[in-house]
Amino acid sequence: MSDASGLPSQLLARWRALPGWLRTAVVACILAGVAGLIYLAGFQTAYREVGPYGLLDKIDRKITQRFASQEIPALEDQAYPTILLTLRSHVAKVDTGSQPDRRGRVFQQGGGLTSLGDDVLLLPYSGRVFAAISADDVRPTHIFAPYRGEDEYLAAANQPDSGMNFHLGYLRINDFKHITRPDGTHMLVASYSEFHGEEQCTTNTVATVVLPDGVTDAMALSIQPEDWTVIFRAQPCLPLKTKHFAMEGQMASGQLEYDGASTLYLTSGDYHFDGMRTEGDPIAQNPDVDYGKVIAIDLQSGESRRLSYGHRNMQGMAIGADGELYISEHGPRGGDELNRIHPDGPYLNYGWPVASLGTAYSATPLPTAAVLGRHDGYEPPVVSWVPSVALSGMTLIHGFHEAWEGDLLIGSLNDRALHRVRLQGDRALYIERIPIGSRIRQVHQHTDGQIVLWTDNQELIFLTAEDLASPAEQIPAYLANLDAPANIKAEFETVMERCIECHALVDGDDSRAPSLARIYDNDIATTGYEGYSDALTGASGRWTHDQLVEFLMDPDGFAPGTYMPITEIEHRRTAEEIATYLAWLDRQF
Ligand code: HEC
Repeated sequence: MSDASGLPSQLLARWRALPGWLRTAVVACILAGVAGLIYLAGFQTAYREVGPYGLLDKIDRKITQRFASQEIPALEDQAYPTILLTLRSHVAKVDTGSQPDRRGRVFQQGGGLTSLGDDVLLLPYSGRVFAAISADDVRPTHIFAPYRGEDEYLAAANQPDSGMNFHLGYLRINDFKHITRPDGTHMLVASYSEFHGEEQCTTNTVATVVLPDGVTDAMALSIQPEDWTVIFRAQPCLPLKTKHFAMEGQMASGQLEYDGASTLYLTSGDYHFDGMRTEGDPIAQNPDVDYGKVIAIDLQSGESRRLSYGHRNMQGMAIGADGELYISEHGPRGGDELNRIHPDGPYLNYGWPVASLGTAYSATPLPTAAVLGRHDGYEPPVVSWVPSVALSGMTLIHGFHEAWEGDLLIGSLNDRALHRVRLQGDRALYIERIPIGSRIRQVHQHTDGQIVLWTDNQELIFLTAEDLASPAEQIPAYLANLDAPANIKAEFETVMERCIECHALVDGDDSRAPSLARIYDNDIATTGYEGYSDALTGASGRWTHDQLVEFLMDPDGFAPGTYMPITEIEHRRTAEEIATYLAWLDRQF
């Protein structure tokens, strides 16, 4: 063996002589060190805006997408318990007629909801309006959306060697509204991203069509793309981008709200011209262009005015019970905002992308932000969501249920939940999160009071309110029909009063203890309750009549260590009646 190989082999021999635990520890330290360096490098490139930031951000998004994109199961009719009422849903899966492209992809995100006469109107991505009075009655109408420049956009995307990355689904309808002017004129308004073939650029566009006098039946209307009149095109026309995606209509915002007189409000997003996914200065901070702005359009004169700037992607807008104008806005990672806009006040800066309470998607600081996670010096939000939920459509709740009167209801994409915001004066008193299970795009309240949702899964969901079923009220009714001796009935009643101090008798409310609504004949410890003991999760089998009786007579004997307290049931017959009651309860759901 030569000298050259002598040293390495000596080192190897020494390494081998080390105890196993020490070797593992050394390897672990080296790996941790490398990981730390990689992390630090990523952090520094973002912080100092050096070259690889865009690339790292892209890789991070790709990885996140890969792991986050599981199929979302289709929703079914169900009850959603909330703190003040129960929401009952009726779901229609709408075949909107979107056609797959050459590669079999079907694009159908975005779209808008409004009400006309007795119908809810849905304008989905495909551009054909649907009318519905309930989930069982969804009809295609002969109302079609304005032309968005789809052919020219497709042609631009199919240009070989353009070097640009197109997302075909980004030329979206962003909102749809029926409004009645004070003089009685009815009109439909649509907002969308419009592609202009000649200049190869995109605008955030609003078009209207006036309905024939007195017609409020959507089925009696025929409106073609050419019947619409464009009343607003954001300035300037945005060029195609070479970074990220060529046209980023998912950042268009485009939500509409009407003040009941002559002003139409529009949210106009920054289309990712934010200095990170484009070269140059962030467009939202340029006070003289129409992107990253809330805009007022005067329906009388056709003139428009910018109300506020420094916005990113505002997917919801509503006039609150206090008459103020509210928008919901996406932060990237953390920092989703509910903002109050002042149409009659000064032209205020809401901070994006210089100030945000969150960070970039890659969990690194925003390269454009002055200080990480601060909003100082800019108009603060009413309230912000950290981490992000991806806020979407918003409505003011009026005449749905007295407990919710005047609250704002905001959808979310990522979080697949509704967020109900209680406002008081100029602050948000609290936010209730109500998980729904689908990416919610639009939230609308119909003229009959129902709340209607439109999801990215093409679900049209009608929501009605039910008073919380008071369990204390249910039990006497059940007892009245119970054929049992008086002493058993009396014990049943006192014992059940204790059960419902912890357990809900409505389906899905597992917040304090497992709901007893659907326990019967189901596997043990499988409700949505999060605080199960190991004793109960470890118990196998189903809640049959006999198992329930055993458990109720002696919880700790049945599953030693269970968190369920002793029931103090004296008569076995009472436990049997409770088991029978739980079987009856199960049949109610
Ligand atoms: C002080 C609160 C409390 C009271 C009172 C109470 N429970 Fe429970 N119960 C619990 C908790 C907590 C669990 C979960 C136990 C565990 O994980 O070990 C539970 C579990 C159960 C389960 C099993 C649930 C499942 O998902 O498998 C049943 C059935 C049940 N209770 C019925 C009753 C009945 C009937 C009464 C009245 C006689 C009652 N409980 C009284 C708190 C309570």
